[in-house]
Formats: sequence, structure tokens, C-alpha cells
Amino acid sequence: MTDARDRIEVLHGVNLNLLGARDPLHYGTLTLPDLEAQIAAWAAELELSASFFQTNAESEYVERLHALRGPPTQVDGVILNPGAWSHYAYSIHDALELTGLPAVEVHLSDVQSREQWRRLSVIGDLCLATYSGKGPEGYRLALERLREELQEDRT
Ligand code: DQA
Repeated sequence: MTDARDRIEVLHGVNLNLLGARDPLHYGTLTLPDLEAQIAAWAAELELSASFFQTNAESEYVERLHALRGPPTQVDGVILNPGAWSHYAYSIHDALELTGLPAVEVHLSDVQSREQWRRLSVIGDLCLATYSGKGPEGYRLALERLREELQEDRT
């Protein structure tokens, strides 16, 4: 029997490989592997399957989004935390739009209460929801939101 679970890819962008070394006041103390393990556990509880990707190269982030459009890496939904690219990388907006996938944006820190330049999101208009400032919990909320969306699509 094939695994019929909906597949969610979590895409982390620039500098997020250094979680654990970044300002704990904004980003907490979990490393990226810790965070991904937590997200995978939440996904399993929600009967979703989670895959993970991180890069510090904008072109690789865009190419990963392209790859998620079809086999063998096709997924059913995406969670994006592009890091600082969120605020200016329109290439990521366009690549996300091309996927046509349901998407949720997550930021560990509260981007609305930090510097002015963090308040703009170039992907927000393509996302079902944005969770910001909730720490790792934002990813659980994002998984729940995507699950709801994917279940609604089937009814
Ligand atoms: C971030 C917020 C961004 O402004 C910042 O550049 C990051 C991380 C967050 O998760 O809070 O690298 O996306």
C-alpha cells in the first residue's frame, strides 16, 4: 500500500542553518535539526509527512520551489521561512506562485515589532496564513492550517 499522507515541505532560507547561534531573544535556542525534528513529530501527529530543505543561496531556494511542482519531489503544500529574503526577494514570490501550492509563511520572531524593513513580506499575498513571533509553535499552526486546506479540497 502506498502512503497516502499529504506531503508538506518546510523550506528554510538564508542564515536559518545557524539557528542556535543566532540571537536567542528573537530565535530561541533550538538548532535547525532540533526544530526540524520537532516539526516532523508534529507532522506525524497530524498524519502528514514532512520533508525539509535549507539553503543560503537564493537561486537554490527558487530551484527547489520549481522542483516541488512535479515528480519525483512533488508535494501537496509548503511552509516557507525564507529568512531575510522574505522581505525583498521577489524571485521567491514568483517561484512560489508558479508552484500553485497551498503555502503558509512562518517567522520565529515577531517581524512586525522589529526593524521597519522586516515588516514587508513579498510572499504574504500568496500564503493562506502567516505566523510570526510564535517561535516553533508557528510551524505547528502552519501544519494545521495546511491540513485543514488539503482536507477541504477533498470534500
Ligand atoms: C526570520 C525573520 C527575518 O526577518 C530574519 O531575517 C530571519 C529569520 C524569522 O524566522 O523570524 O532570518 O524569518
